[in-house]
Amino acid sequence: MTNPAKDLADQIRSVAGDAPPAFGLILGSGLGHLADTVAGVAIDYADLHGFPHAGVSGHNPKLVIGDLEGQRVAIFGGRAHYYENGRGDAMRLPLEVLKELGATRLILTNAAGSMRPDIDPGDLMLLSDHINFSGLNPLIGEPTDKRFVPMTDAHDPQMRDQLKAAARDLGIPLPEGVYAWYSGPSFETPAEIRAIRTLGADAVGMSTVPEVILARFLGLRVAAISTVTNKAAGMSDENISHEHTKAMAPIGAEKLEKILRRFLRDQQ
Ligand code: HPA
Repeated sequence: MTNPAKDLADQIRSVAGDAPPAFGLILGSGLGHLADTVAGVAIDYADLHGFPHAGVSGHNPKLVIGDLEGQRVAIFGGRAHYYENGRGDAMRLPLEVLKELGATRLILTNAAGSMRPDIDPGDLMLLSDHINFSGLNPLIGEPTDKRFVPMTDAHDPQMRDQLKAAARDLGIPLPEGVYAWYSGPSFETPAEIRAIRTLGADAVGMSTVPEVILARFLGLRVAAISTVTNKAAGMSDENISHEHTKAMAPIGAEKLEKILRRFLRDQQ
């Protein structure tokens, strides 16, 4: 039987070497800079058969494998979203490849809107948990009993503690909160934001949750951080647009990059 993830992992190893990455990192909208700072091998998604096109502006669809702060990392410079093609499992193959390469941990980043009065544009939020408000699931159609993935502590408590410690050492606030996945691509209405706020969400975005589910399905430990680019719809006079997201993401990205570097450095 063919195994596309294994074939792709073999292809990647043939150019990047056999050493397994310890961590995978998926970079969200406007957060691509970190991939440019890694000494390593970059492969366009277009050269990895079956990888998504990741056609959203503000993403950089390349897989970079190399060393960052003493850790071998696999950085996914772009992600595919459900709203691009109606597939909730759009990131399944890349994550299967990550697992096949030997990684055990995954860090996800995204741009998000904040519903919390104490979390403003330019701030970061560590996901303590999430609400799958889309009702979709990337494991629909998975035929094995492995599909019944437990989601308690899906956001890895130890990785979260380590990320919080890194942020604390750097003096960068990293509050924890609950992220709601809204399918997009239209932004939310103010009524939808009031609804998910009432349900317990602190931030909202169009990604990450399917990847957390897939990561747990594959047995990868996972943590996720949002860079807040705006207050959620109806919560301020600020304009909400993808242009605004891309313009604001780098503000949080600078702090995020410092935390991720410190976190990786502290692993040894
Ligand atoms: N909603 C959904 N996704 C987002 C937002 C938002 O307000 N900001 C950045 N990504």
